[in-house]
Amino acid sequence: MNSDLLERQLASLLDTRDWLTNASQTVAFIQQQYADFNWVGFYLQRVENTLVLGPFQGLPACNPIPFDRGVCGAAARTRQTQRVADVHAVAGHIACDPASRAELVVPIVIEDRLWGVLDIDSPTPGRFSAADQAQIEGLCERFIAACDFGASAHGF
Ligand code: SME
Repeated sequence: MNSDLLERQLASLLDTRDWLTNASQTVAFIQQQYADFNWVGFYLQRVENTLVLGPFQGLPACNPIPFDRGVCGAAARTRQTQRVADVHAVAGHIACDPASRAELVVPIVIEDRLWGVLDIDSPTPGRFSAADQAQIEGLCERFIAACDFGASAHGF
């Protein structure tokens, strides 16, 4: 899939500055564009050092997630994308859905504050390539650029 085209499609979909609307549109867009994803969603740091479930597509999910737990917590703590080929091999992984096998979690950092993470699950081990990671990170950049975060980026 062409990254430039995908990014342009997402940017045209995000035609408001409202982060909640844009977050909802972004997860729906990603779920629609990629094959073999069973969960796509944002967790938001709305409590200090804790991720709270935000807009998502998929089954009801675990909430809340402290920064010291799971793959999402690792992404929040380190502010590094976590790309896991097989979550069953990761100690501390939080199994919201036992069908999920591969996971990609991208931290969303606004003005040096961890705003949240974008979490994607797939039932296929090894589903996420380095190219997928780069493409999803690019879409996250488009999401960030499209939004006014206001107080939500700085307070809890
Ligand atoms: N597996 C994640 C928890 C969130 S769900 O996948 C939706 C984790 O280990 O952080």
